[in-house]
Amino acid sequence: MLNQSKRAAELRSLLNQAAHAYYVLDAPTMENTVYDCLYRELLNLEQNDSSLLSPDSPTQRVGGSPAERFTSVKHRIGLLSLDNAFNYDDLKAWNQRLLRALNLPLGSPLEVVSELKIDGNALALSYRQGVIERAATRGDGQQGEEITANVCTISSIPLRLQIDQPPDWVEVRGEAFIPDAAFTAINAEREARGEALFANPRNACAGTLRQLDPKVVSARRLDFFAYTLHLPSSQRLASQWEALNWLERAGFRVNPNRALCPDLMSINSFSVQWEQKRHVLPYATDGVVAKLNSLALQDKAGCTQKSPRWAIALKFPAQEVPSRLLRIAVQVGRTGVITPVAEFEPVNLAGTNVSRATLHNANRLAELDLHINDTVVVRKAGEIIPEVVTVLAKLRPPNAEIACLPNSCPECGSLLVRGKNEAATRCVNNSCPAILRGALIHWVSKSALDVDGLGIKLIEQLVYQGLAHSVADLYRLNSTLLSGLEHIGKRSAINLIKALEKSKQQPWHRQLYGLGIHHIGEVNAKVLAAEFPSIEELQTAAITDPERILNLRGIGSEISEDLRQWLKNPNNQRLLNELKSVGLTLRVTDKEKINDLNHSISNGPLLSKTFAITGTLPSLSRSAAKELIQAAGGKVSSSINKTTNYLVAGKEAGKKLSKAKNLGITVLDEASLQDLLNKPHSINEHPDL
Ligand code: IVH
Repeated sequence: MLNQSKRAAELRSLLNQAAHAYYVLDAPTMENTVYDCLYRELLNLEQNDSSLLSPDSPTQRVGGSPAERFTSVKHRIGLLSLDNAFNYDDLKAWNQRLLRALNLPLGSPLEVVSELKIDGNALALSYRQGVIERAATRGDGQQGEEITANVCTISSIPLRLQIDQPPDWVEVRGEAFIPDAAFTAINAEREARGEALFANPRNACAGTLRQLDPKVVSARRLDFFAYTLHLPSSQRLASQWEALNWLERAGFRVNPNRALCPDLMSINSFSVQWEQKRHVLPYATDGVVAKLNSLALQDKAGCTQKSPRWAIALKFPAQEVPSRLLRIAVQVGRTGVITPVAEFEPVNLAGTNVSRATLHNANRLAELDLHINDTVVVRKAGEIIPEVVTVLAKLRPPNAEIACLPNSCPECGSLLVRGKNEAATRCVNNSCPAILRGALIHWVSKSALDVDGLGIKLIEQLVYQGLAHSVADLYRLNSTLLSGLEHIGKRSAINLIKALEKSKQQPWHRQLYGLGIHHIGEVNAKVLAAEFPSIEELQTAAITDPERILNLRGIGSEISEDLRQWLKNPNNQRLLNELKSVGLTLRVTDKEKINDLNHSISNGPLLSKTFAITGTLPSLSRSAAKELIQAAGGKVSSSINKTTNYLVAGKEAGKKLSKAKNLGITVLDEASLQDLLNKPHSINEHPDL
């Protein structure tokens, strides 16, 4: 109980500070979504225990107090705010409250206008005899600041209504905003002048509207969407839909993305659709506003103290919310780098449940000064992995324990190491299962050896059952061993062995990339493989002629040093030997050579020669032999006839061999085929050709 009253007091103070920064200082310190969540937490505490209510609670206030630079004016009709809905259930609850207020049976249809919720600043515009008379900010909803001169610089606001015989008075409400492009330009200029940057377009807009010099406002390219119309009662329209059309006719910009919705489902799908598409709009939106279409029914439903019953803001899923930090976990990457991961109470972020977020590295962890049970703000924008952006240290419970990285690797227990001037902390135990798992995942990945059918689950089993101590061990597996594991049937096991076998033919640069040497990504691997056609040549250069590596495109001293260290390491030398012994070439293959040749010699060396293959060749699979022949311009046929030039024959050759002999066709073993492929010009010297 004591805890709860303390928490409520802390929340009150934090939220009041945030509101002051937002409304009065024009310098927000907290994302709206974070504010909303904490506000709801406070509201909940107060609702469960009314003794926690206090007059200074932000829940007891309608809006922020107006700043004092401008004249304060009373609104003709108060500017209310909107209740929020965050999901379909909230939307249903709103609909039920509304039906009750209208005395209608549950389930009765209600027509609703769905509009985009523009993330800007509300304005109230008064027109007298069709001419703009006054423009004011929302202020606290009852009183705002008079900013007519500034508003008159916004070109999408008509100074005179474009209608014949305008009503005596007209009140128009809408949202002033700064389009994204203008916002970027404003901040770029401010940066160039060394001025503080605006946090977001809404904040820039609020700051601009309160500029004392209208010329500054005019230069900031503000814009305005009108969404509410008040007319004298004798001239009232029947619906919100008509009001929007009226506003358009009168010369206002009305957001074109609006829909008449017959039911809740269609409001929801309008919202889902815009949640996905909103980033293509040139201005910020943060949800959808659903409004009862009939103005007569709006009147009947009425308002609560703070908001109309006839409207609701359906907010897009938050991309930034608070949560409570439970513990720090760590992930060990394939290079041994340790990534701290924050585990927190599950929250809904951008529509998905999230309970873990990256903390990047030990520096970031220290910078945030995280403590267990801290209230942290987590963010997930677009496809990006969730991250902890900040900690609300004010809400820290007493005696909270500081959160730090462990001293030892959670996977193998060995002591973690952090190099001087390095942000990364590493596990340097080469046989750490996490590092091995990462190395295997990398080796079989699409851009490396591209082995089909070897997923993370299977790799984990191979590591934890001691079946793979290195990537070379993958080539020692057999289908019987594999089919004893979980999640893999006999057929998949056979296919996997085939895929592994096939992977031995991958080009040298992919094998080099697959080794996962620090800094040797796909591009560097290609550059190195082009210069050094085999691992031996690369090793020799690294020891005797490092300059040669250094001079290569994109390879600086750091990369070349990493490479040298890697090649020097006895464990890695052992790995390279093992890879060779299981059949990896670690060099430019014949196929690559022939491919290269194909680039330089447009006619392949085996052009227009037809081959057939029979029996088992000592090292090449049939399909590999076929690819090699084809890469050199030859054709491979499945049968033999007079037009066949060569038969490549291995062990247990069948009928094709005797047929070839009968037809006088030249029979090659694998070595002779390799000879043909390696010395293409000898083809011309061959007596049979
Ligand atoms: S209707 C009484 N429609 O959202 C309700 N408001 O969070 C009047 N807003 O204060 C508001 N787009 O500043 C309405 N299409 C829209 C809106 C919109 C943005 C703002 C407005 C309001 C706030 C409520």
